[in-house]
Amino acid sequence: MHPKLIKLEQTLGRSILTKINDPFLDNHQVGLCIKRDDLLHPVISGNKWRKLKYNLDEALSLGTDTIISMGGAYSNHLHALAYTGKVLNLKTIGIIRGERPATLTPTLQDMESWGMELRFIPRPDYRHYRNFKNWNDLPGLQPYQYWLPEGGANNLALKGVAELGDEIDIPYDALCVACGTGATFAGLINASSEKISVLGFAALKNAGFLHSDVQSLLSREFHNWEIFHDYHCGGFAKLNPELASFMTEFEQKTSIPLEPVYTGKMLYGLYDLIAKGYFKTGQRIIAVHTGGLQGNRGYV
Ligand SMILES: Cc1ncc(COP(=O)(O)O)c(C=O)c1O
Repeated sequence: MHPKLIKLEQTLGRSILTKINDPFLDNHQVGLCIKRDDLLHPVISGNKWRKLKYNLDEALSLGTDTIISMGGAYSNHLHALAYTGKVLNLKTIGIIRGERPATLTPTLQDMESWGMELRFIPRPDYRHYRNFKNWNDLPGLQPYQYWLPEGGANNLALKGVAELGDEIDIPYDALCVACGTGATFAGLINASSEKISVLGFAALKNAGFLHSDVQSLLSREFHNWEIFHDYHCGGFAKLNPELASFMTEFEQKTSIPLEPVYTGKMLYGLYDLIAKGYFKTGQRIIAVHTGGLQGNRGYV
């Protein structure tokens, strides 16, 4: 790995497993631990570090001076990329969905303050950028520029996510994670044994595309996975009263902070599955906290 990345990795916190003590879990005779990727770093947290790590390595080894990527006004991915660019002394460009708002969101403000150039583009044009998947696919890319697709979702991201799976050193039966593009979920499937059920919770409404997108990212035959589509709580980034009260209660019980876009919905869905008897008696569940807590600033 590039020496600059080794140095950065040495500054990261430890992603521990936190056991959840909750009478609800005891009553349903299941165990739950949270894999705390949120503790890796306040900004490059959760799956962001996992997905960026090998892309940054590739970019640095190619002599890249600029990384370009895309996302929304609260994008955890662009936020982490902008920060990492500053630390690694790389220029970053963020292609942002929609018009430049009169007042930048806190996420965009951070990104600009860390030196990211923000390029706002109309929504139909934004969708077109989703067609560019490989680092050199972006039309007009200049020498020493590196393109990262939306959410940093590519094969190098999967390699980083697989390391998360490898770090889990206790026996378990099910691994749960929130799905946006599905890349983190696919990376976990690739790293899992067929004995483990890998369960994804879609953060978007109408996310039927996830099934084929995930399938296309799998490096081998694996059948023990399922995506749940009923826990988007009204749509992407929507927060309804049930989700809000679930999150408040969970945070009070466990002192683990959540956010409503991904981890809140994943745990809300997981608790609902447990209540409905989805898991067998004695099953041990691990849920991945994929970070993204900066997104909470969109809800104040
Ligand atoms: C905090 C958080 N969790 C989960 C996800 C979903 O990741 P993926 O797009 O790899 O499915 C994202 C999106 O990037 C995210 O920001």
